[in-house]
Amino acid sequence: MSGARAKILVLHGPNLNLLGTREPGVYGHTTLAGINQALTELAGELSVELRTLQSNSEGALVDAIQGALKDCQGILINPAAYTHTSVAIRDAIAATALPAVEVHLSNVHAREPFRSHSYIAPVAVGQISGFGPDSYLLGLRALVKRLEK
Ligand code: DQA
Repeated sequence: MSGARAKILVLHGPNLNLLGTREPGVYGHTTLAGINQALTELAGELSVELRTLQSNSEGALVDAIQGALKDCQGILINPAAYTHTSVAIRDAIAATALPAVEVHLSNVHAREPFRSHSYIAPVAVGQISGFGPDSYLLGLRALVKRLEK
């Protein structure tokens, strides 16, 4: 990674637009805008650019992942419920071959058994789960370190 700043696609999957009021006992009180603000500040520190999208639609997320090939060097993604269902998102990440980091606010491995399985994890560099909004910040740091290698 030299010269121009790296650009990272940040994707938030379904229902994450409701953060702040959605099951606060599980997901906390931080809104999606709050998470994006914290990510933007960290991106400034790390000298990377972000393009951010939240969508409830699987196809829109697939389109965004394909679009990342044009001008992004990595993907930070909370696929939300699609983590556990979406072969399409997994295949899109594999097709781009861009390094992707999967993040979750909650510890998906400590919840219902169906949340322990991720279609995304095998095509991701790694998964960070259970640290609330910090999962995103840790994920961004990890991704930028990977890009610097
Ligand atoms: C989530 C965990 C998923 O199981 C769930 O469907 C979500 C949010 C998380 O960030 O903890 O919507 O990805």
